[in-house]
Amino acid sequence: MTQFTLGKRLEGKTAIITGGGGGIGSATAQMLAAHGANLVISDINLAGAENAVTRVERLGAKGLAVEHDVGSEASWKDVISAAVSGFGGIDILVNNAGLHRETSFGAISLAEWDEVLRVDLSGAFVGIREAAPKIAERGGGAIVNISSIAARIGGSFAHYSVAKAGMIALTRAAAIEFASQKVRVNTVLPGLIETDLTRQVLSQPELARVMTGAIPLPYVGQPEDIASAVLFLCSGESRFMTGAELTVDGGLTATAGPKLDDMDRPK
Ligand SMILES: NC(=O)c1ccc[n+]([C@@H]2O[C@H](COP(=O)([O-])OP(=O)(O)OC[C@H]3O[C@@H](n4cnc5c(N)ncnc54)[C@H](O)[C@@H]3O)[C@@H](O)[C@H]2O)c1
Repeated sequence: MTQFTLGKRLEGKTAIITGGGGGIGSATAQMLAAHGANLVISDINLAGAENAVTRVERLGAKGLAVEHDVGSEASWKDVISAAVSGFGGIDILVNNAGLHRETSFGAISLAEWDEVLRVDLSGAFVGIREAAPKIAERGGGAIVNISSIAARIGGSFAHYSVAKAGMIALTRAAAIEFASQKVRVNTVLPGLIETDLTRQVLSQPELARVMTGAIPLPYVGQPEDIASAVLFLCSGESRFMTGAELTVDGGLTATAGPKLDDMDRPK
C-alpha cells in the first residue's frame, strides 16, 4: 500500500513535546502544529512553554503549556492528564527535554552523573511507560526520542554520552514492546544545532571555527532541521519504521578517521 500525504500530515492528532520551551522543542512544536496537530508543550521553565504555545497558536493550532520536570513521575501524570482532558487522548510523544553538562571525566560527581541520567534518560522511560498505553488506545501512533551524536563520540560529557546512548537502547526496547499495538518508537541523533544548549560553544570564535569546520556540510544545523526529521517519524510516511535511528548531523559522524585528503602523498 503506497501512502502519499498531501498538505497537513497530522490533522486532528495530539502531540506532547517535552522541553518544548527550548530551541529544538519549540521548533518541533511549530512544525507539528503547522501540520495540523494540537500540542501539549511541557517544560521545567513554564514561561518558555507558554511562549511556545503562543507561537503554535499563531499557526492556528491549539496548545497547552504545562510545567513539568521529566525526571519526576508525579509530574508526568499531570502532563498525561492535561493531554487527555484537554484534547481527548495522545497520538504522539516527543521526548526532547534534555540538559548538557561539559565536565571532564574525573570531575563528574555522582550527583551530577545521576542528574544528567535522570533528566536525559530516565525521564524518557517514564514518559514512554505512561504515554504508550494511551497512544495504543487511539489505535497507534508515534514516539520520537531525541538522542545525540554524543552517543557515538567521547568527550567531556561522559554522563551525557551514556544517557544519549541509553536513549537508543530504550528506543529499541520500547519499539519491540509496543509494536503489536502500532505504537512506533524511533530516535533522532542531532549533531551540532544552534540553540541555547550550544550557544556557549558557538559564541567562542575559535571553538566555533573548529567545531563547525568539522561538519562536512558548510553550515550549522538549525532547530528546524531536527523538527523536519521528527515530523517524518511522526507521520504516515514512516509507517514501517520502528526502533530506528535517524542521524541529522551534516555528515559529522560520517567523517570519522584521519583526513587523508590533507596528506602530502606521491602523485
Ligand atoms: N543543540 C544541539 O546541538 C543538540 C545536539 C544533540 C542533541 N540535542 C538534544 O536536543 C534536545 C533539545 O535540546 P536544545 O538544543 O533545544 O536545548 P535547549 O537548552 O534550547 O532546550 C532544552 C529544553 O529542555 C528544558 N528542560 C531542561 N530540563 C528539563 C526537565 N528536567 N524537565 C523538562 N524540561 C526540561 C529546558 O528548560 C529547555 O527549554 C536535548 O535532549 C538535547 O540533548 C541537542
